[in-house]
Amino acid sequence: MRAAAKAQPNIALIKYWGKRDSERNLPAVGSISITLADLQTTMCVEFDDALSSDTLTVNGASSDAMLARVSRCLDSVAGDSRARAAVVSESNFPIAAGLASSASAFAALVVAADAAASTGNSRDQLASLAGQASGSAARSLFGGYVELENAGDDIRLSQLCTADDWPLAVVVAITASGPKAVSSTVAMETSRETSPFYDRWIAQQDADLDEARSAIADTDITRLGAVAEHNCLKMHSVMWGSRPPMVFWNGTTLACMEAVRDLQAAGTPVFFTIDAGPQLKAICEPSDAGAVREALERVDGVEQVTVTGLGGGARVVADD
Ligand code: DP6
Repeated sequence: MRAAAKAQPNIALIKYWGKRDSERNLPAVGSISITLADLQTTMCVEFDDALSSDTLTVNGASSDAMLARVSRCLDSVAGDSRARAAVVSESNFPIAAGLASSASAFAALVVAADAAASTGNSRDQLASLAGQASGSAARSLFGGYVELENAGDDIRLSQLCTADDWPLAVVVAITASGPKAVSSTVAMETSRETSPFYDRWIAQQDADLDEARSAIADTDITRLGAVAEHNCLKMHSVMWGSRPPMVFWNGTTLACMEAVRDLQAAGTPVFFTIDAGPQLKAICEPSDAGAVREALERVDGVEQVTVTGLGGGARVVADD
């Protein structure tokens, strides 16, 4: 009744922002992401009849804030009448800071819970259950380039190509490592309820998905970069236009964006994306990753720069 699983965060190039059904946590738009290799979350789940309630430990400290969400996710995998569980989560990167830690956490959680309870769900079913816990987590069940589509009253995941098919590098610039002020869940609802740009955002998403899918099929980084930056800046415009406005960037985020623009002007094929946090992710060819890293390290205020390749989906690992 015990199993461990590992998953990596994914970074959306065409973003999920908005829900069509908040009860079931169904996204209002499709999205396309890349799964990272070196930022990892390991989840250990142990179902134990002797426990009177679930427990959650995150990076060595007990975490009550996430416990209810974790318990609901365990119920969805192993059923309401399951034994209580001790859940231990370890991540090798800052959590809740816009690095998609909930994606790797819930992807690893559903895989570990499924193995610990021997429920035998398919990967698609596990993706759907991870998505109910956190929309972006569904994509971390798969590696490489992943598309999430709205399909009837559920989501459908597909791998567009593997990390080996097109091994791009991701250079992550950490500009502030503390937890963010507003969660994505809350920020999305505020956007839907108050932003005058929200409906246009939804209406244009399919065109961005088509362009990104075709750029990935052609392994064309310039076209992929153009549509990914456009999609990212549109998502942030929806947030800036909300009431209250939600600005996740800081001055260093903008300075990093300028550093990427300078690299582009000098002929380096690189593009940026930013999620609901102040970190900037630059995507480039592995052979340019060193130069991109140096450029971002030179930006005043950058705390840390990490380079990672692309990796595989969530999987069971030996529990030690
Ligand atoms: C900006 O998946 O964290 O990273 O479903 O409410 O848990 P919930 O939201 P979450 O939102 C991710 C938003 C994003 C874009 C993306 O990953 O597609």
